[in-house]
Amino acid sequence: MTPTLPSQVKKIPADQLRPGMYIHDLNCGWMDHPFVSNRFAVDDQETLDKIRKLGIREIYIDVTLGLDVSEDAPTAEEVRRDIQARMADIVNQPESPASVPLATERTRAKKLHNEANQIARHMLQDVRLGKQIEMEQINPLVENMIDSIFRNPDALLPLGRLKEHDNYTFQHSVSVCALMIAFARGLGLERSIIKEIAIGALLHDVGKAKVPDAILNKPAKLTEAEFAKMQSHVVQSIIILQHTPGISQIALDVAGQHHERYDGTGYPNQLKGEEISLYGQMGAIVDVYDALTSERVYKKGMPPTEALGKLLEWSKYHFEPELVRKYIRMVGIYPTGSLVRLESGKLAIVLEQSRDKPTQPKVWIMYSSKSNVYVKPEEVDLSRPNCQDRIVGHEDYADWEIDPYRWIKDE
Ligand SMILES: [Fe+2]
Repeated sequence: MTPTLPSQVKKIPADQLRPGMYIHDLNCGWMDHPFVSNRFAVDDQETLDKIRKLGIREIYIDVTLGLDVSEDAPTAEEVRRDIQARMADIVNQPESPASVPLATERTRAKKLHNEANQIARHMLQDVRLGKQIEMEQINPLVENMIDSIFRNPDALLPLGRLKEHDNYTFQHSVSVCALMIAFARGLGLERSIIKEIAIGALLHDVGKAKVPDAILNKPAKLTEAEFAKMQSHVVQSIIILQHTPGISQIALDVAGQHHERYDGTGYPNQLKGEEISLYGQMGAIVDVYDALTSERVYKKGMPPTEALGKLLEWSKYHFEPELVRKYIRMVGIYPTGSLVRLESGKLAIVLEQSRDKPTQPKVWIMYSSKSNVYVKPEEVDLSRPNCQDRIVGHEDYADWEIDPYRWIKDE
């Protein structure tokens, strides 16, 4: 079958979807819909109703496999170019420079990341057994994570990208926690508030302890009943946190609102706009970003730059647009730990952001895309005036069969 060209795929408002059209992309995270595939023909009203109920506002259709729209609609190629232009327009605001060199912080961050994963794993096990969350462990952990990110965010943040299948739930919580701390720091929030945000982030999915493992780790699509059970984790998180002494309203907002959406299409309370607190809105952005970029048994992780583009695209409905722009400024257009292609044809891993030159980070060159071989690793600061090379785009580790574990964790 000849692949569909981006010019044959159009983005249309969901209310223009009709039976006879062919969906090319539901344009939402995999976990956000119960359909077996992202691509299928729309045959009946029931399918249409199901799609609208999910809060999907815009959809990509393939006009070679189904009906076209009568109104003007942008092609996937036009949407892609628009997102690229908007990304380029988002310029990093000068952020507080790292106070500790990356090499120094990296060792501490790796230890801390392992410790955080262990604590988060035990916490979920405890909750599953009906025990209380031990805040005596959580409090010093989040303080240490905040300290690390304040010293140098590029040490802890890329470690969050590494997740294993069975351990996804708690590793995702640790990753969201680190990203939320960095996001809150980027917004200039006070340290005492950042701490509460971090606690809420670490515990945001604690309700998943009440969802059976068979559903959490199911290596296939969920049935509708399983999907509903999965969604119930938010209400469960709220109940558990309400019964945990010392939990603040800020932490509760992060956990209880991380699946709410700005246009009122989220759950569990269909809160809209400013009804969702700043902390809940931040939680939603970071949760989606981390889920999109994570590898699961049934899906590849999306390269971070692409995931940021999706956030920007969805910010029209699901997130507050200015907050998404601030998030992108914080992680950088090429987030630390992501794979990029340089003009020279070399592939490199982003090591450290250049706070005032977001497209010129420090990178670790390790592969030649021209000759398809690893090259002698070399650290290069692309922001140096005498540097001849530059980033021309992001790449996917999987396409090059490069193992990010080897480079992010062990190097
Ligand atoms: Fe969640």
